[in-house]
Amino acid sequence: MYYKKLAGLAFGLLAESKFKCPLTRGASSRVNAVRSVCSWTVCLHHRQKNQLSEGFSRRLTCRNVRTVSQTTLDPNEVRKFQAMASKWWDLQGEFAALHSMNDLRVPFIRDNLLNVHGIQELGKPLAGLRILDVGCGGGVLSEPLGRLGADVLGIDPVEDSVRTAELHSSYDPDLRERVRYQACTLEELAEEEVEGFHAVVASEVVEHLADLDAFASCCQQVLKPGGSLFITTINKTNLSYVFGIVAAEQLLRIVPSGTHDWEKFMSPEDLERLVESFGFYVEAIRGMMYNPLRGAWSWQQSTAINYALHAIKCKEEPQPGQVWAESKNLDEPGQATNYS
Ligand SMILES: C[S@@+](CC[C@H](N)C(=O)[O-])C[C@H]1O[C@@H](n2cnc3c(N)ncnc32)[C@H](O)[C@@H]1O
Repeated sequence: MYYKKLAGLAFGLLAESKFKCPLTRGASSRVNAVRSVCSWTVCLHHRQKNQLSEGFSRRLTCRNVRTVSQTTLDPNEVRKFQAMASKWWDLQGEFAALHSMNDLRVPFIRDNLLNVHGIQELGKPLAGLRILDVGCGGGVLSEPLGRLGADVLGIDPVEDSVRTAELHSSYDPDLRERVRYQACTLEELAEEEVEGFHAVVASEVVEHLADLDAFASCCQQVLKPGGSLFITTINKTNLSYVFGIVAAEQLLRIVPSGTHDWEKFMSPEDLERLVESFGFYVEAIRGMMYNPLRGAWSWQQSTAINYALHAIKCKEEPQPGQVWAESKNLDEPGQATNYS
């Protein structure tokens, strides 16, 4: 009964809303942007364009230095996922929505990587690419990426989840060579892996981290220049509170109560600003929505609840203290970007 009411309410709200995602760009423009213009100059250009549309003046310095004390780890979050570490492959269980999210996020990652790198091998289009899956849990996303031919390293601070992931992938001979897991944090990995990955994926993870600056800094460190960062997460809006917490956790029990803390959600504008201040430019942001009646996700114009982001690490790095984008007095009313 709840399902029907909520689904009706959700679709009604979204159908009526005038929410638009301004950053969903066409595939051809992505190809061109990535192939020909992933450079320091273009980074600057993207930054300035976004500043113009945001319509306010500010000066961003490059923040690619992380102090040792900064950690992404929030012990409360680790405890939550520790309690669910054996449930990752229960297709009807707590993580069912993540399994069905693969229908969107796997093609999103694959197609954007193909736009950047071109097809490597028919049937294994991601062959030759190294992907880091941060917060991999039980490997729900790592496995399909491995099946597409990528060499995947999944990391998660919850050791039992990593054991679950290892056990599950060991049943598939196709994955044994290609998908590996490690129980560690991103900041620990970043100590040893510098510019080693073609892509970093953090799907439904950033809303569980203690420090997003540390996260973005480490992503910047472990990615090759021109490498891709893929994030899916939850917007910080009234709608995300109603659907992401009240409905999903308390009424429908799609995920266990207490899984999410609304304070930790982040708007696409803030996420874009964060990654750009660490030397990325944002290629695409797309809204997503879960339909609990169908147990399926779909792309939406609106980013009001869930969204996916693809950003690219700029090829040239600034000198310490160098400014990513010069500040201009851009206080032009009516220019603000509307994401949700
Ligand atoms: C909602 S789950 C998403 C799992 C996986 N990315 C997926 O979509 O199937 C969030 C994951 O983030 C992990 N996590 C929590 N804190 C983390 C941290 N500081 N660094 C990396 N992963 C973390 C949790 O253990 C959990 O596995």
